[in-house]
Amino acid sequence: MRKNIVAGNWKMNKDLAETKTLISELKGNVITSDAEVMIAPTFTNLLTASESLKDSEIEVIAQNMHFAENGAYTGEISATMLKSIGVKTVIIGHSERREYFNEDDVLLKQKVDSGLENKMRVIFCFGEKLEDRKNGDQFTIVENQIRKALFHLPEESWESIVLAYEPVWAIGTGETASPEQAQQMHHFIRRLISDRYNFDVADSISILYGGSVKPENAKEIFSNPDVDGGLIGGAALNAESFMAIVNAFS
Ligand code: PGA
Repeated sequence: MRKNIVAGNWKMNKDLAETKTLISELKGNVITSDAEVMIAPTFTNLLTASESLKDSEIEVIAQNMHFAENGAYTGEISATMLKSIGVKTVIIGHSERREYFNEDDVLLKQKVDSGLENKMRVIFCFGEKLEDRKNGDQFTIVENQIRKALFHLPEESWESIVLAYEPVWAIGTGETASPEQAQQMHHFIRRLISDRYNFDVADSISILYGGSVKPENAKEIFSNPDVDGGLIGGAALNAESFMAIVNAFS
């Protein structure tokens, strides 16, 4: 079943004290929306966050993970470690991971596989850069990103996949894809999945939009038939703006 989802990606922001403050502010808000709500704090604050949100409607998720179970990978964190503190969902393939940490399609495929083997839900991010869009290559780029990391999966694995289209030129720039651009790409993605698998898989997958979503534009973006929510960066660092985006679904 396709679900509406609003996930806050805190990136490398908020220390322990700030994390506790933001979480208590979030808990002070009423969720009137039918969307699933998630937040992704930094690794060091995941345990505190998941403990303080244990009985709430907000799920605590991870921003990244390594594909191996354990071993000599200094500085990395595995799916089993995340699961051991109650984290069941992970973001994979964020454009900042691709760009600053050289994560390529081969690596991302391994991470997706590891997440699914560990029965986690994977929020898989992808999106074109500004020059790709200027050249009219956005559909080819997005198709390749999805094909290379996900199209080896059997149909049943798609129950645990959420897609997040994040045009790189719209992330943290204040520039948002127009509702038409978002709908056009999301519709293209759904057709791609339908062609590779079938209509049911394509119809049941949640496709989120990410890139400068704010309280002022959330409702319009989310009202598109193929947009099932958002991955929110900057606006997720403030309880009021994040909750306004969450409740844009109501
Ligand atoms: P932004 O980030 O909302 O700050 O543009 C979105 C994201 O990177 O997920």
